[in-house]
Amino acid sequence: MKYVKLNSGDQMPLLGLGTWQLRGQKCVDSVKMAVEIGYDHIDTADGYDNHQAVGKGIKESGIDRDDLFITSKIKPENLHYDNIKADAKRFLDELDIDYLNLLLIHWPNKDIPLEESLKALREVKEEGLAKNIGVSNFTINHLKDAIEIDPDLVAVNQVEFHPTLYQKDLLDFCQENGIVLTAYSPLARGEVFKNDVIKELADKYNKSASKLTLKWLIDKDIVAIPKASSREHLESNFDLFDWDLPAEVRKKMDQLNEDNRIIDPAWGEFNY
Ligand SMILES: NC(=O)c1ccc[n+]([C@@H]2O[C@H](COP(=O)([O-])OP(=O)(O)OC[C@H]3O[C@@H](n4cnc5c(N)ncnc54)[C@H](OP(=O)(O)O)[C@@H]3O)[C@@H](O)[C@H]2O)c1
Repeated sequence: MKYVKLNSGDQMPLLGLGTWQLRGQKCVDSVKMAVEIGYDHIDTADGYDNHQAVGKGIKESGIDRDDLFITSKIKPENLHYDNIKADAKRFLDELDIDYLNLLLIHWPNKDIPLEESLKALREVKEEGLAKNIGVSNFTINHLKDAIEIDPDLVAVNQVEFHPTLYQKDLLDFCQENGIVLTAYSPLARGEVFKNDVIKELADKYNKSASKLTLKWLIDKDIVAIPKASSREHLESNFDLFDWDLPAEVRKKMDQLNEDNRIIDPAWGEFNY
């Protein structure tokens, strides 16, 4: 595993397991398998309705809690002060752990003042319920607002990011401001396997399209959280740490942006 340093000094694993759409026993099994393979980072959210299953998978894997990095996210409708304070405790109960490594605002909500949400999140951090605070689906303008309110609270921005949605300006802004970018849907939900340029590079270098894509991300100090449920996929995605990304791959993948946003619940409506 390789790590990137957060503004708190904590180390965040550059690869994690995404768990959206994993529920029940399938979720328990995937989390357990991932930990057995060597994953030390799990990404969940209140909205995924799988906190209990993730917690069970962690328990059954036998890993020491302190050897794992666990992220969860607060639903956009629950961003009022009291909701956040209550949710942080509920998440810990559901996951059966006593702190989160990272707690995110899942989506911005223009109807709830960001000041109010950040005040509650600052307190959640000070109480030790979450070691780090971050956001998700924030644009540069949202991040500027957050930095103005509480300059060093936001440690991470989790956004859709893959070669055909290469958000270079957002990445540069994050890195210039000490914010780690996490790439969600890093495999473009399977679309990387259909991209002709990536397919050609995969054939030439004898590495799958998913490996090349994940390596392209972590090489830029971007955290990648691919979702995988089979042992084969989990193992394949973990095989990133003992080879180098060929310069040609980096160069060609840097040129694939098509502003191809796949996860888009009314993106333009509340983002500016
Ligand atoms: N913050 C947000 O708003 C937000 C939004 C979306 C996602 N996320 C997070 O990001 C995570 C990942 O995103 P995602 O689930 O949308 O998509 P993704 O990780 O880009 O793609 C997942 C798909 O790729 C397949 N896959 C994984 N590894 C593979 C491999 N080595 N070979 C072939 N296929 C492979 C999976 O299949 P199998 O399941 O069959 O293995 C699954 O169908 C989510 O689970 C969630 O944790 C966050």
